[in-house]
Amino acid sequence: MPVTAADIIAAANFRHACKVYDPARRISEDDFQTLLQSAVLAPSSFGLEPWRLLVIERPALRQRIAEQAWGAGAKATECSHVVAFIAQLEPLLSPDSGLPQRIFRERQRVEGEALERRCQHFEHFAKSDFALVGHSRAFYDWACKQSYIAMANMLSTAAWLGIDSTPIEGFDLESMNAHLAREVPYNPEHYKLAVMVCFGYRLNEPRPKTRRTLEEAVQRVV
Ligand SMILES: Cc1cc2nc3c(=O)[nH]c(=O)nc-3n(C[C@H](O)[C@H](O)[C@H](O)COP(=O)(O)O)c2cc1C
Repeated sequence: MPVTAADIIAAANFRHACKVYDPARRISEDDFQTLLQSAVLAPSSFGLEPWRLLVIERPALRQRIAEQAWGAGAKATECSHVVAFIAQLEPLLSPDSGLPQRIFRERQRVEGEALERRCQHFEHFAKSDFALVGHSRAFYDWACKQSYIAMANMLSTAAWLGIDSTPIEGFDLESMNAHLAREVPYNPEHYKLAVMVCFGYRLNEPRPKTRRTLEEAVQRVV
């Protein structure tokens, strides 16, 4: 069935940062798989997909997130699913680490001279164009950008499925990351928390959207 412009705008309006979830409603496994697929299908710079997606099911950890992340609060225990993106760090992403080359070769199946060229492009990009190498925060932020694209795909997909969502950045990054790294666990030298998201079903209708007009937001360059 073709999608109309009205459908697209309706889904964009349906999506809002849900504040209170209905604790009685759970997302079906099929719908949740679709959300996960939409994250994995997101674009990423050089196709490196420099993040992992944690599905936080452990009740004690969700409780801790509710207590520690002021932007989550009760949402973390009352929503259906909580996910967290952890972004790769410089020791994994550096052109010298061997991982980008392995991804180009094994996952993207690039071979021979094309592989050589791709590696050189990435090295130039990381060392010069975006000046990431030697700046661990810049590498982390770059990996976070890729995580946020995947998160945005999930938020839009959720809206299409009639599922509500809340992106969560409201936490002390260092202490939340330290806690997750210990509990999950993951190597904090290789990964750092980027952003979390709650998914589920709203209890209340949201306030009407407040946004700039298109004229305010968009500049045509002719
Ligand atoms: C990266 C990001 C982080 C956010 N963090 C939080 C958060 O911690 N808690 C929260 O309730 N809303 C959070 N929000 C929701 C925004 O406040 C919300 O998207 C914005 O006010 C626009 O409202 P709308 O999404 O309902 O249209 C976040 C949004 C984004 C994109």
